[in-house]
Amino acid sequence: MRQKADRDRILGHENEADGIQEYDNPLPDWWLGLFWITIIWGVAYLVHYHFIAHRSPEAALAQELAAAELRWAATQASETEAEFVLSAEAVAEGESIFQTYCVACHGANMLGGIGPNLLDDEWIHGGTSEDIVRIITDGVPEKGMVPWGPVLGSDQVNRVAAYVISRNAEALGRDPAEALRPPEGS
Ligand code: HEC
Repeated sequence: MRQKADRDRILGHENEADGIQEYDNPLPDWWLGLFWITIIWGVAYLVHYHFIAHRSPEAALAQELAAAELRWAATQASETEAEFVLSAEAVAEGESIFQTYCVACHGANMLGGIGPNLLDDEWIHGGTSEDIVRIITDGVPEKGMVPWGPVLGSDQVNRVAAYVISRNAEALGRDPAEALRPPEGS
């Protein structure tokens, strides 16, 4: 321990202002104790983190990503499970979905506007039910067709596709079931 005589001696700086003077006392023992404990703790933590527990932010991230992957894959699987059915009921429900979300671009009569005519025989992206479901789900964002999958869900996408297919077949005087078959030659 330092001598009592050491304490409360004034440093004697020359530029003391406002009558404030500085002592040159040693740091209190409790403070020094804490200081050393933090250093020892730091070293111990470092050794534990890297060499005993083998933790790392990369591993934590990889774990979170793997968990997300599992969850995401699970919801995706259940999303794609909704099956495309060309029933009168699906067509009727599809009509109201079309009126709500699609008329702005494809027109109430489906003859087109901002988006192409859906009643003719020309499909930019293919005319099978799979093509149509896919294009409604994924959209063509660079051309202004919205990806509807995330908005409507696969069930409603299937219904509005059924409506498009049945109206298209009606306009062309065909059997809507044709759209369910892959095009000839494939
Ligand atoms: C914001 C405008 C807009 C809205 C709303 C919109 N579409 Fe489209 N749609 C387009 C455009 C533009 C294209 C053409 C994309 C291209 O040129 O590749 C398109 C293309 C399509 C195609 C493919 C046509 C082909 O010839 O291959 C289908 C099917 C379709 N839309 C269905 C729908 C349905 C169903 C909805 C409602 C759920 C909808 N669209 C809403 C703009 C829109």
